Amino acid sequence: MNYLPNAEMTEQFGAQFAKQCITKTLIFLVGNLGAGKTTFTRGFLRGLGYQGTVKSPTYTLVEPYQIFDKNSPIKFLYHFDLYRLNDPEELEFLGIWDYLTQEKTVCLIEWAERGQGILPAPDFVIQLDYAQPDGRQITIKRNNS
Ligand SMILES: Nc1ncnc2c1ncn2[C@@H]1O[C@H](COP(=O)(O)OP(=O)(O)O)[C@@H](O)[C@H]1O
Ligand SMILES: [Mg+2]
Repeated sequence: MNYLPNAEMTEQFGAQFAKQCITKTLIFLVGNLGAGKTTFTRGFLRGLGYQGTVKSPTYTLVEPYQIFDKNSPIKFLYHFDLYRLNDPEELEFLGIWDYLTQEKTVCLIEWAERGQGILPAPDFVIQLDYAQPDGRQITIKRNNS
């Protein structure tokens, strides 16, 4: 089942996916504007027990979250949206390596293409595509290298 008929299902899929991330994980979210990348991230955070607001980090580039659920193996989540990154080297100034190397942390990156050459290979690539006549198609690729 990789057809998501509505936004609620995108969130649910994200929440389910979160539950199998038990260690430091880097995820690239691929898809056009409006494909559901931020919606997936919101669901992912819900799956970790985070109930607060989840907004797009389009202008801030990164939005940090802390997970206080004692039972969660993941304690930090960083949601990146690199759409407005002008040059991959800006990631160095952002201190990208500190985020990516922190333990018990998931990094979810929208528009990772913009950071090519600086960002390492991800553990997962999650692609969201518009389906016809509505809904979305989701494809998960795991990097085994
Ligand atoms: N499976 C889905 N079917 C229909 N609409 C969806 C689905 N998933 C998300 N959406 C909607 O698509 C819109 C854009 O979602 P968003 O997550 O902001 O996209 P992105 O971050 O990829 O630009 C939102 O209105 C959201 O509710
Ligand atoms: Mg987004």
